[in-house]
Amino acid sequence: MTSARDIRPRADDLAAQAQYLSTSPSASFHSPSSHGSALTRTVPLVNAKHLKPFATEDIKVLLLENVNQAGRDILKQQGYQVEFLKSSLPEDQLIEKIRDVHVIGIRSKTKLSARVLKEAKNLIVIGCFCIGTNQVDLQYAAEQGIAVFNSPFSNSRSVAELVIGEIICLARQLGDRSNEMHNGTWNKVSNKCWEIRGKTLGIVGYGHIGAQLSVLAESMGMSVIFYDVLNLMALGTARQVNTLEALLGEADFITCHVPELPETKGMIGQKQFEQMKTGSYLINASRGTVVDIPALIEAMRSGKVAGAALDVYPNEPAGNGDYFNNDLNTWGADLRSLKNLILTPHIGGSTEEAQSAIGVEVATALTRYVNEGSTLGAVNLPEVALRSLTIDEPNHARVVYIHKNIPGVLRKVNEILGDHNVDKQMTDSRGDVAYLMADISDVNPTQIKELYQSLESLSSRIMTRILY
Ligand SMILES: NC(=O)c1ccc[n+]([C@@H]2O[C@H](COP(=O)([O-])OP(=O)(O)OC[C@H]3O[C@@H](n4cnc5c(N)ncnc54)[C@H](O)[C@@H]3O)[C@@H](O)[C@H]2O)c1
Repeated sequence: MTSARDIRPRADDLAAQAQYLSTSPSASFHSPSSHGSALTRTVPLVNAKHLKPFATEDIKVLLLENVNQAGRDILKQQGYQVEFLKSSLPEDQLIEKIRDVHVIGIRSKTKLSARVLKEAKNLIVIGCFCIGTNQVDLQYAAEQGIAVFNSPFSNSRSVAELVIGEIICLARQLGDRSNEMHNGTWNKVSNKCWEIRGKTLGIVGYGHIGAQLSVLAESMGMSVIFYDVLNLMALGTARQVNTLEALLGEADFITCHVPELPETKGMIGQKQFEQMKTGSYLINASRGTVVDIPALIEAMRSGKVAGAALDVYPNEPAGNGDYFNNDLNTWGADLRSLKNLILTPHIGGSTEEAQSAIGVEVATALTRYVNEGSTLGAVNLPEVALRSLTIDEPNHARVVYIHKNIPGVLRKVNEILGDHNVDKQMTDSRGDVAYLMADISDVNPTQIKELYQSLESLSSRIMTRILY
């Protein structure tokens, strides 16, 4: 296989660069000016053709905020030029750096506002190596054809394991015993300390975390019931109940794993505490708004709730330090004074394994997007993927056309592609932006350049990439 050469077109020199077009299967033609597989396979086909947009040494990647090693390795293995920084950057330095790069990887501290992204002339994709994407102006990025990926579920197992640990700690009052010992007090008691075997766990929200937890809890001898707005297949011998009230009336331990939505705000409040069995336990490692904390304080003071574990809060500090005080949440001191209450600083998903899994998931999504154009898992563009081109298709090319979602575009695009056989095509839209992918056969480098220029000249164009 010939080695790939840099065929990145420059706006001022599109004609001249035709001579650099390589027929290498790992080269491509890519829109310069924009701001800027198989459908669900994670293992590539044996005979998959490796598509890449440029000579690999020309893909510039900027990784900020100490992105995990596993993710860095995946990007480096692609031959991309990876610059790695341990911290985030002040806005002016970020703007300087982002001008040059095609890919940026961040975590939660780097703010990619419209002002910053406006300067990112070569950027095609953003990887958020974390769960949330609030730090990115997703709409603006989509309007510039910049895809954004994150990793919402890589830490599900970590959260589920934390909850298992907390169930045992609460049942045995381990937090209190440990605190007492730290203060020099020996307090050997068995009163109101329980095994978890045979107890009923009620899971509110049976998604990625809830389902993992269900399996773990059963393997420790618990009975599992769950409540979810969706009808879901129960794992093992778990049983779905029809109402939250039914769950609260039956469970010994109640654990919340729902998303933050208007419907889930305060979904465990005074009324729900009244519906619980006396002496039950509550765990919340979902979102801070799900549990009404003053109502929890009352329920624990009255003895209705025998113990609780909270990992999330309505207001959480932006950094580490002695910030968990009444200025942050007015009930802070009342909460901290309660017995058999485990308080953790939103660490449910904070493990080395989760960080590594996030690194792998996001870096893989980035390389799939850069190399194949697949937007599966993107948070701001429609999800579009085509099965991989194979090495038996050497003269085939993949057209990626990100465009404004306005009438008549497909007709014009298909007129442009019409001289070639379109082997497969897929298009989808999300709001004002649409994403089209088409694999065409029997194209030579000159034709690719013409196709590229024709697509770029359409008024609907946001970004064009041709991979081959
Ligand atoms: N503590 C942490 O560090 C940490 C880490 C990861 C995730 N989380 C949080 O955990 C929660 C669950 O995450 P997940 O990955 O399992 O989410 P998920 O989307 O996979 O599952 C959520 C489930 O809740 C259900 N649901 C939605 N609204 C509901 C309602 N009103 N009543 C009952 N069920 C409802 C959904 O149908 C879904 O099955 C999220 O809030 C997430 O932000 C916390």
